[in-house]
Amino acid sequence: MQLKVGFVGCGTIAAAICTGLNSQTSPVTISHSYVSTRSAAKSAALLAQFGADKITVVDDNQSIVDAADLIFLCVLPQHYEEILQSLTFTPDRHTLVSLVSTSTIAQLVTLSKLPAAHVHKMICLPSVSTHDGTCLLTPKSGAALPLKTILDTLGGCVECESEKIMTAMMIPACLMGPYYKILQNNRDWMIKQVSAESYGRPAFCRPAFRRVPFRRYHGAATIAPINVPLFPDALFCSH
Ligand SMILES: NC(=O)c1ccc[n+]([C@@H]2O[C@H](COP(=O)([O-])OP(=O)(O)OC[C@H]3O[C@@H](n4cnc5c(N)ncnc54)[C@H](OP(=O)(O)O)[C@@H]3O)[C@@H](O)[C@H]2O)c1
Repeated sequence: MQLKVGFVGCGTIAAAICTGLNSQTSPVTISHSYVSTRSAAKSAALLAQFGADKITVVDDNQSIVDAADLIFLCVLPQHYEEILQSLTFTPDRHTLVSLVSTSTIAQLVTLSKLPAAHVHKMICLPSVSTHDGTCLLTPKSGAALPLKTILDTLGGCVECESEKIMTAMMIPACLMGPYYKILQNNRDWMIKQVSAESYGRPAFCRPAFRRVPFRRYHGAATIAPINVPLFPDALFCSH
């Protein structure tokens, strides 16, 4: 299967998804990606990385929609309603995937005028660029467009039965900022202690100490008993 993908908005998350999709190998080939000129540095970087065979930078949002089959809506919450209602979709062609955290399926269907079966909400983190992020998707994708197959290549896709379940599952993403800030503060504090005690050998000591907080938590996450069923399987379409 060959798919043309469009990105309305080309900021942090759009660039990450576009990078991940264009560097994956799955039964679904992304034949071409159309990205917005917005955030010019990011769209230019995508073009430079993947080349004109794979990426076209487009001036206006409607031209992105006209050129692609699968559209990722990657704009800020305060902009999405105005942008979405200005676009014209073709119901039997387009599938819309909104990354906008505050959007709801009902709003997206109303604003896009697409059938509900062609409208999804997704949440992921920028680590999808290296195929190391878990995408949350609702509702479950249909046979016509195997969204799960595509998103699985970005580090996994969990299809949530409802928006309520997806909202609960979004919390780990919301915790990312405070989590890394705690580790950063811990690292900076440790460097201060080590510097005071390193007897003039900071070049030797510092890099090792700098990595300790991050490596410890990475190690802990690696051996954590993640196979323990924390949530009933029935909540999800698949894992
Ligand atoms: N970052 C994350 O980890 C993450 C994770 C999950 C979900 N999300 C969601 O994804 C959405 C985007 O987040 P982000 O972090 O990628 O934000 P961002 O980096 O600020 O990107 C927003 C993009 O929207 C563009 N834009 C603004 N007005 C536009 C318009 N009229 N037409 C087309 N594009 C327009 C901006 O262009 P300019 O820069 O030129 O203004 C920018 O490229 C948000 O709704 C957020 O909730 C983000």
